Amino acid sequence: MLVDILRKIPTEFETTRTQNRRMTFDDADQMLQVWSDEDVTRFMNIETFSTVEQAREIILAILQEKAANRYVIMDKTSGEIIGSFGINELYIDTMTAEVGYELKKKYWGSGIMSEVLQAFMQIVQSTSNILIFTAKVAPENEASIRLLEKLGFHFEKTVSELDMSTKTLKAIKQYSRGII
Ligand SMILES: CC(C)(COP(=O)(O)OP(=O)(O)OC[C@H]1O[C@@H](n2cnc3c(N)ncnc32)[C@H](O)[C@@H]1OP(=O)(O)O)[C@@H](O)C(=O)NCCC(=O)NCCS
Repeated sequence: MLVDILRKIPTEFETTRTQNRRMTFDDADQMLQVWSDEDVTRFMNIETFSTVEQAREIILAILQEKAANRYVIMDKTSGEIIGSFGINELYIDTMTAEVGYELKKKYWGSGIMSEVLQAFMQIVQSTSNILIFTAKVAPENEASIRLLEKLGFHFEKTVSELDMSTKTLKAIKQYSRGII
């Protein structure tokens, strides 16, 4: 059932500035360049990676997860992978998809993630029964909160999440957006 829902969502699409396609194992080298920057991983609740094996491990985990998908974002002009995004988890009882995303630092603040997520959510809603999008954000992650608000998300509640680096619970803000 979960697989069927995610399978209907196109595996690639483009926006004005980007080409986006499902992440594969072969993207590990280029994704390491994104996930090895501690400014990028600070609010992602993952370690800052230093080896390509770590990038391969996380890609493998994503590819094996039936309730998730992940896309790489490529700069159309250079072909360079500049980030990724996707559905971290699908909650079938409420048809809710939790999204996650990150960009290389030099591309921050140029509106690229807004462009990509806007297109992605439209595609998801026209090709699946997903009704609601959610995102979990650290309260200090002002760029991500601003991005979500621009995309029509609203603050829903504060939830607890296990911090993978400190192994303690921390408060996280949950935002959500229904069909627009
Ligand atoms: C979150 C992230 C994807 C945003 O990408 P982006 O392409 O820069 O997003 P956009 O440019 O579309 O929008 C960001 C908005 O936040 C604003 N912003 C950026 N940094 C900010 C800050 N420190 N404080 C307040 N607002 C900020 C930008 O000005 C922009 O708003 P505007 O269009 O009104 O000017 C990017 O910062 C990132 O990859 N961060 C690291 C990974 C991460 O935190 N992922 C999300 C985990 S929940």
